[in-house]
Amino acid sequence: MLRNALDEIYSYSDLHTSEEDSLLYELERRTYLAALSPQMVSGKLQGKFLSFLSNIIKPNFVLDIGSFTGYSSLCFASGLTDVGEIHTIDVNEDYEHIRQAFFGRHPKGNQIIQHIGDAEKLIPSFNNVWDIAFIDANKKAYLNYYHLLKNKIRPGGLLIADNVLWSGKVLEKTKDAETAIIDQYNKTIVAEGLFDVTLFPLRDGISVAVKK
Ligand SMILES: C[S@@+](CC[C@H](N)C(=O)[O-])C[C@H]1O[C@@H](n2cnc3c(N)ncnc32)[C@H](O)[C@@H]1O
Repeated sequence: MLRNALDEIYSYSDLHTSEEDSLLYELERRTYLAALSPQMVSGKLQGKFLSFLSNIIKPNFVLDIGSFTGYSSLCFASGLTDVGEIHTIDVNEDYEHIRQAFFGRHPKGNQIIQHIGDAEKLIPSFNNVWDIAFIDANKKAYLNYYHLLKNKIRPGGLLIADNVLWSGKVLEKTKDAETAIIDQYNKTIVAEGLFDVTLFPLRDGISVAVKK
């Protein structure tokens, strides 16, 4: 019952949101045709929210953790400065050709740098201080991603995490391993007080934390 109501609210919100960029529209369709688990793509409503945040921040350095078919990177590209860089990480090479093809069609596509590997190993290899970091990869690593990134975001910069409601499973008393880590992420980022956090119940829950 609640699930149906939430799905209807989501569809209504999507319908009453302006169209996304045509390249992103095409990429979402391509993802549904070509990828396993295509529902992982951010999609129009969340994608427009990410673009909106990027346009406000006008980042020089973005870290996108969990590239998939490149949708979130292209959302962040909309606000990227002319000299900015987006570093996007995925452990899986399968969709590199899709990312490459779509990045190549964006005016700032040559400013998006792809990295293949485990994010927990790659994150410490960057010396950048990030304007935006987006966590959307291994759910069991969310707390580690937080600890690896908490001192690598500039004051006023954003640490964004997707799926922080995990289909509502964070509310269950007995939590599986992934849900328990996501719940710890949500609790720790508020308790440590390094960020001003807002958990938006958008889609599967998106946490936007501004570095103090
Ligand atoms: C939910 S999808 C990302 C969706 C994408 N951000 C978007 O907006 O469309 C999660 C991605 O994380 C990647 N991933 C999973 N575990 C990872 C890890 N340990 N390191 C890096 N990437 C990982 C998966 O291969 C998958 O492509």
